[in-house]
Amino acid sequence: MAFFLASAFLLVLQTYAAPPEFVKAGFGITLDPMDFDPGRPVNGSGDVASSPPPGTSKRAPHSIIIGVRKGGTRALLEMLDIHPEVAAAATEVHFFDWDENYAKGFEWYRELMPYSYPHQITVEKTPGYFTSALAPERICAMNSSIKLLLILRDPAERVISDYTQVYFNRLENHKPVQAIENLLVRNGALNIRYKAIQRSLYDVHMRNWLRHFPLEQIHIVDGDALIRDPLPELQRVERFLNLPPRIVSSNFYFNQTKGFYCIRSDGRERCLHESKGRPHPAVNSTVLQQLRSYLQEHNRTFFRLVKRTFDWQ
Ligand SMILES: *[C@@H]1O[C@H](CO)[C@@H](O)[C@H](O)[C@H]1NC(C)=O
Ligand SMILES: *[C@@H]1O[C@H](CO)[C@@H](O)[C@H](O)[C@H]1NC(C)=O
Ligand SMILES: *[C@@H]1O[C@H](CO)[C@@H](O)[C@H](O)[C@H]1NC(C)=O
Ligand SMILES: *[C@@H]1O[C@H](CO)[C@@H](O)[C@H](O)[C@H]1NC(C)=O
Ligand SMILES: *[C@@H]1O[C@H](CO)[C@@H](O)[C@H](O)[C@H]1NC(C)=O
Repeated sequence: MAFFLASAFLLVLQTYAAPPEFVKAGFGITLDPMDFDPGRPVNGSGDVASSPPPGTSKRAPHSIIIGVRKGGTRALLEMLDIHPEVAAAATEVHFFDWDENYAKGFEWYRELMPYSYPHQITVEKTPGYFTSALAPERICAMNSSIKLLLILRDPAERVISDYTQVYFNRLENHKPVQAIENLLVRNGALNIRYKAIQRSLYDVHMRNWLRHFPLEQIHIVDGDALIRDPLPELQRVERFLNLPPRIVSSNFYFNQTKGFYCIRSDGRERCLHESKGRPHPAVNSTVLQQLRSYLQEHNRTFFRLVKRTFDWQ
C-alpha cells in the first residue's frame, strides 16, 4: 500500500497539474486507485440495443454491487467483467427510476440490463444503494434471493476520496470549493452531519440491509486488498457467485509507472484513466485523528455485525 501510494505520488508530481487550492495549502497529493477510467464501455456481452446478438436476452440482475461510493465499485465491476460468464451492465440505476416505476413491477429494471447469454449472469453496480434507506427493501421485493456484493475500504480514506470527488465536480462546474477541514470540523468539533462522514458509517447502513437480507447473501469485498492484489479477492467473488474459476493472474499486470494493477482480457487493456486520477489532499493530522477516532467505534460495531474484521489502520 505504502509502495503504490509513494509511486502514485511521484507520478502526480510529474504529470498532474494540481488545482491551485491544493498546492497553496501545501497539500501533498496522492492518486485515487479506485478511479478506473469511466469513459470506456464495459462490454463483455454487447450492450448495443439496436442489434442484440442472437441467443441473448435481457435478464434481471443476478447480482448487484451495492456500494460503497468511492469504495472501488467500478474497479470491481471491470475486473468481474473479465469472467466470460459475467455480463456487466454499463449503466447504473437511478433512484428516480425506482420512484417512477416501483408500483409497476420490475420490467424497467430488466430493460436496463445488458443482453446476455443463458449461461451468463448479469451484474450491475449502483454505489448509492448501500447508503440508501429505501434500497434494501426495494431490492428485496425485486428478488429476495439476489446476491449482493459490497466493496468497502478504510472508512476514513473513503471520506477523503468522497470529498475529493465532490471537490473536482464542483471545480468543473465552476462552483465554490472548501478545504476539507472546513467541512470536517464545525465549531471545533467533528462535523458528524457531513454527508461524506455519514456515508462511511458502515455499521449504520449495514444494519438496514441485514433487516432484509441474511448476512450470507452479502459478500464483502475488501477494496484495499483488491487494489493491492486483485486476484484473491476476485476468486472469492467467483466462489460466492458460484462461477467456475476463470479469472487468472495473467488478467492483471502491474503498471510500474502508475503504481496500480491494470486489466488485460480479450486482447484489451484497461487502466486508470490517464488524466482522471484525482489527487487527494493531505488532511490536517489533528483533524484526521478526530475523524479516525470517531469512525473507530463504528467499525467495531460493523465488524461485529458482519462477523469479520478488516485491516483498516
Ligand atoms: C468492446 O466494444 C468495442 C467498441 O464498441 C469493440 O471495438 C470491442 O471489440 C469490444 N470488445 C469485446 C471483447 O467485445
Ligand atoms: C434472483 O437471484 C438469484 C441469485 O442470483 C438468481 O438465481 C435468480 O434467478 C434471481 N431471480 C430472478 C427472478 O431474477
Ligand atoms: C503504464 O502507465 C503509463 C503512465 O500512465 C502509460 O503511459 C503506459 O502506457 C502504461 N503501460 C501499460 C503497459 O499499460
Ligand atoms: C490542524 O488544525 C488544528 C485545529 O484543528 C490547528 O491547531 C493545527 O495547527 C493544525 N495543524 C497543522 C499542521 O496545520
Ligand atoms: C477503524 O477505522 C478507523 C478509521 O479508519 C481506524 O482509525 C481504527 O483503527 C479502526 N479500528 C479497527 C479496530 O480496525
